Formats: sequence, structure tokens, C-alpha cells
Amino acid sequence: MEQASLATKTSSNVIRCRAAVAWTTNAPLSIEEVEVDPPKAGEVRVKIIASGICGTDNHTLEGKMKTPFPVILGHEGAGVVESVGPGVTTVKPGDKVLMFPLPECRECFYCLYPKGNFCEKENILSPTGLMLDGTSRFTCRGKKIYNIMGTSTFTEYTVVHEIAVAKIEAAAPMDTVCIMSCAVPTGFGAVFNTAQVTPGSSCVVFGLGGIGSAIVMACKASGACRIIGVDINEEKFPRARALGVTDCLNPNKLKKPVQEVVKEMTGVGVDFAFEAIGLIETMVAALKSCNRSYGVCVIMGVAPTGSQLSFDPLVLLPGRTLKSSVLGGYKTRDDIPKLVTDYVQKKINIDPLITHRLPFPKINEGFRLLQEGKCIRCVLSMRP
Ligand code: APR
Ligand code: ZN
Repeated sequence: MEQASLATKTSSNVIRCRAAVAWTTNAPLSIEEVEVDPPKAGEVRVKIIASGICGTDNHTLEGKMKTPFPVILGHEGAGVVESVGPGVTTVKPGDKVLMFPLPECRECFYCLYPKGNFCEKENILSPTGLMLDGTSRFTCRGKKIYNIMGTSTFTEYTVVHEIAVAKIEAAAPMDTVCIMSCAVPTGFGAVFNTAQVTPGSSCVVFGLGGIGSAIVMACKASGACRIIGVDINEEKFPRARALGVTDCLNPNKLKKPVQEVVKEMTGVGVDFAFEAIGLIETMVAALKSCNRSYGVCVIMGVAPTGSQLSFDPLVLLPGRTLKSSVLGGYKTRDDIPKLVTDYVQKKINIDPLITHRLPFPKINEGFRLLQEGKCIRCVLSMRP
């Protein structure tokens, strides 16, 4: 199997391997031979085993989320540590690991404070596409290639900071738990940590893709008795129902704004609303869908760079709460390996989220499936 890979390992030296390079926005990814530099101090080089394709990768490729190009996308990866740079103590070569788009440095205010998870070393709000020292570990055809949120998983090898990597248990199936690097904690944490959905409550989920589906599963696990799913793609409805959605709404087929329909269906609006699309209009609709007195709206979709959310503040005045989180508020290195163990021990099930699997070279087909709304999560396997 390994023979089909271009990778040639020369210990702690540059590795040549295959990667999917995005040279520009709105163009197919190009499978190229790239050079991956050895890890510097505090860094880890990982052989990627599997990677999910996330809506955020697609938004970035479509130019809606600004990050430097050319770039190697992908931030939902599982792999095995190939080598470590000086000073790395928490993982060693051979360890199975997940890589996270949000680090946990365990030193900053946010990491040391029990609540929240938004580490100061994040590279999400104003992405540089570079490692913390301001340099890149990838080159292709003599050009510098940027990373995405310090991860980049659409490559046979990547270099990440130790603070964004966690060892997971050896029994974990890599081609499934890779989606625990983003989709699963984002959706589950939105419900369990950020909203804290209560038994018997009513919920609405805007967007029934990968993140929305994880949200639906967690709402059901929290004992919500009504879960309304909203999507303009009705092909998403049968699967959403199987996961726990009780009522499906297509806003394009309604005679009234969706929030008014949700209010009529529930009498006063839902207890908890979730936005998992990334559009301003659906964020406002989600907010207005929740009960005006104590409804909680959690925005998990990432809006295009530079957009402005605007609504009459009187929407909030009666008591609504508007919240958000990244990676569901989980402290990535501390908490996510425990979710992996829960999966291995069959305490949680994430299998229904993965609807398609493709070999890595078919990555553009995977993006097409996402763009055409045909898949929930498509996982790429790096093995041929
Ligand atoms: N109204 C309702 N549903 C919509 C609309 C709309 N105007 N536009 C798109 N959708 C639906 C799509 O049909 C799809 O089912 O939203 C869903 C989005 O799902 P995915 O494309 O699978 O994306 P996902 O990975 O779930 O990410 C969703 O969360 O993390 C963020 O950046 C990510 O903003 C993105 C969001
Ligand atoms: Zn930190």
C-alpha cells in the first residue's frame, strides 16, 4: 500500500509527498508533489491517515473566508506522529493523534480559566496561514504554500504545533474519528456546552449538513422532545428525520418567514435555536425563532469575512440570548480525546455523520458532493 505513496522518508529531513494544493479560489484542487519541512521546536510532523471535508474548507475555497493562498486546506484530520521537534513531550513518533483547528496552549488566560476554550494562540480570527514563528513548512514548485488554521490535512504529511495535537487511543478507527477534529465537537459542544439543551425542550436547527446533523444528534441525546430541521435542500430531510428531527421546513416553500412558522408550530418559539449554515439572514431567522423571554440562539455557522450581523436590539430585550462557540467550547487537547474514547466504548455514535468515503486523489469529487448537497460528511482516506 505504501508503495503508491510518493513519500520518501529521510529522518528529520524534508519529506516529499502528495498534497492537494489550492492555488486560487474557485478552482479545483491540484494534487501536487510538495516538500514538507521537518518540525521545528514545539512542532510535530504527522502522517495523515484520514481527513473529513468540512463546510469551512469549502467556504475558504469559494473565497468567502479570507486566508492566504496558495494553501493546503483540510482541518479535520487523524494521523500518526512521524517525528517531533525539540521540546515536544506530549506526543511521540508512532502515536495516533487528532489535529485541531483550535489549539490549547495550557498557558494563556483562556486555557487556564475553567470556562471557554478560545486559546490565545488561535489562528482563526485573522488567519496568517503560517506557523506561530511566521514561517511555512510547505513548498511546491519552489513556492511557499500556506496552511489553514495551523493544520492542513489534505496532504500525506503535515506539520502542526504540539499545542494543537492530542494523542488518542490506539483502538480508535482513524477513518471515522477524524471528524472528531471538527464536526463532532462543534455540533455536540454547541448543544451540551454552549446551549445546554434540557430534557423536554424544543429546538430548531438551521442547516442539516455535517454540523447541523451533529447538533440534531446531540439535541436528541439531551432529551429534546421537538427538533425542527430547516434546510433548502429537501434531500437532507430523510436522514435528518432518522437522526431525530421531528419536523422539516424548507424556507423556500413557506408563505411566511421561517421564524413565524416556527413560532406558530411551538406557540411561543423554541427554547433553543442553532444556526449551522453561515449566512447572516439565517442567523437572524434563528435568533427570532426562539422564545423571546428565555430562548437561546447559538450560531455555529461561520459568516463570510467582513460581514455584519444586524437586527433590532429589541429582539434581545425581552430576554433572548445570542451565543456562539468554536469547537463547541471543548478544550481541544483535554476534552476531545475523551470523546474519542466514548466513541470507542460505544457510549456515543458518530457513524451516521459519514455518508461518503473516497481515496485522497478523488478530493475534488468530495468537494463536489459537498457543494451539490449530496453528502453529510465525506472522509478522504490517504491510503490508496
Ligand atoms: N437556508 C437553509 N439551509 C441552507 C441555506 C439557506 N439559505 N443555505 C444552505 N443551507 C444548507 C445546505 O443545504 C446544507 O445542508 O446548509 C447546510 C450546510 O451544510 P454543509 O454544507 O454540510 O456545511 P457544514 O460542514 O455543516 O458547515 C456549516 O458551520 O462550521 C461552519 O463554516 C461552516 O458555516 C459553515 C457551517
Ligand atoms: Zn491557550
